Amino acid sequence: MSDKIIVFDTTLRDGEQVPGCQLNTVEKIEVAKALETLGVDVIEAGFPISSPGDFHSVVEISKAVSNPVICGLTRAIEKDIEVAAEALQYAKKKRIHTGIGTSPYHIKYKLNSTPDKILEQAVAAVKYAKKFVEDVEFYAEDAGRSDNAYLAKVVEAVIAAGATVVNIPDTTGYCLPHEFGEKIRYLMENVPNVHKATISTHCHNDLGMATANTIEGVLNGARQVEVTINGIGERAGNTSLEEVVMILKNHKDLPFYTDINTKQIFKTSRLVSSLMNMPVQPNKAIVGRNAFAHSSGIHQDGVLKNRENYEIINPKDVGIKESSFELTARSGRAALKYRLKNLGYSFAKKEIDKIYEKFLALADKKKDVKDDDLRALIGKASRKDHKVKLELLQVICGKSAVPMATVRLNINGEEHAATASGNGPIDAAFTAVKQIIKRKVYLEEFLIQAITRGSDDLGKVHVQIENRGKLYYGFSASTDIITGAVEAFVDAISKII
Ligand code: KIV
Ligand code: ZN
Repeated sequence: MSDKIIVFDTTLRDGEQVPGCQLNTVEKIEVAKALETLGVDVIEAGFPISSPGDFHSVVEISKAVSNPVICGLTRAIEKDIEVAAEALQYAKKKRIHTGIGTSPYHIKYKLNSTPDKILEQAVAAVKYAKKFVEDVEFYAEDAGRSDNAYLAKVVEAVIAAGATVVNIPDTTGYCLPHEFGEKIRYLMENVPNVHKATISTHCHNDLGMATANTIEGVLNGARQVEVTINGIGERAGNTSLEEVVMILKNHKDLPFYTDINTKQIFKTSRLVSSLMNMPVQPNKAIVGRNAFAHSSGIHQDGVLKNRENYEIINPKDVGIKESSFELTARSGRAALKYRLKNLGYSFAKKEIDKIYEKFLALADKKKDVKDDDLRALIGKASRKDHKVKLELLQVICGKSAVPMATVRLNINGEEHAATASGNGPIDAAFTAVKQIIKRKVYLEEFLIQAITRGSDDLGKVHVQIENRGKLYYGFSASTDIITGAVEAFVDAISKII
């Protein structure tokens, strides 16, 4: 029998505390609806007393979303609780999340109080929240650095006061995984009424251990995890939803499950990233651009033989269509052939060898080779059978110079050359080509495009010419756009001849 792990998403409260990531109410509703589709159990929609905007957002999210519990954060202060209750009035399922600091730092330096007074205030806050809602969650802020025996006393008292969930936050991200796990186990074993409530984790990532700590918490008895999409949150962030959910899904040896529709993960990640202006780091687990991208030849070959050689997660499970193969100078023939096949081309081994040589020469110049680059390479490879070949192109151009071009073509094995002037080097070269072939051709279309952005990039050239009422198409790509233009023109001409 496996246990359900409740997913409590705090992207719109703890996540939204990141400077520069604030959302307006319309955007928050969009995220809340996406979280509902994702299947989270609880949405912490905001901290209603903190601002009129937050209050309004909690009200509107409560109206817009119906499946998850909507939760509002408060301090252990009556006014906060009243305002949260008012903001949650339209929620179908509502929860007040109240709490106070329990570590020596918080008790002494933040709250200037004593452990006994804090305990009283905690109990009073839970009792007060219970007057408004049935579902009350209590957080023991900085529980990670709180004394376990004192924490156990607080947890027991707030459960007796009616708390349905008790949150044990590692607010500063300080705990080691085994330490956090032991803390949860200590509470499970030393709080007599612990089974009347759900114990929750809420881990921060200051030392990069938020996910590990959350999992340790679950292994030791916690049944709710507080997480954010992409792990966003103040400082180094919160525990990332996608990491925890995919660990629980992938480790079949663990007796846990969540109700998350994992196929929605990637979409939700990108929605949050773009609305919050928070790019996802490329190597971020599960949702980073490179999470399913293979670039070394050995890995690409391994994945093509069997995906599981180098992937423990099926990209489809998180809503990513397929693994990608970055074509770089380290890629092998297998990846090149696979990518060409996806583009609709199949070549015999000998041809692949030739394309591969050209690919390597290009990959040495460019960091990664895109689909358009490959199309261009294939264009060159297929040009080898043409009866007309451009053997030489020389141009004179520049400010105050008269543009001139000398062209030498090989037509059916014979060399022909011409020199012409024009209103630019391309016009001059086209005129020279026309002088050699002695046919009337009209340029119908001529398009030059940079494939990507760098000045070292390939330029793509598409040419359409007309001869005796028929249209002929030519294509080329080159880092030298004048050569590319003339090659595309000659490519079209060779189809006439
Ligand atoms: O990190 C934390 O302790 C919190 C509480 C307010 C739940 O975010
Ligand atoms: Zn937090």
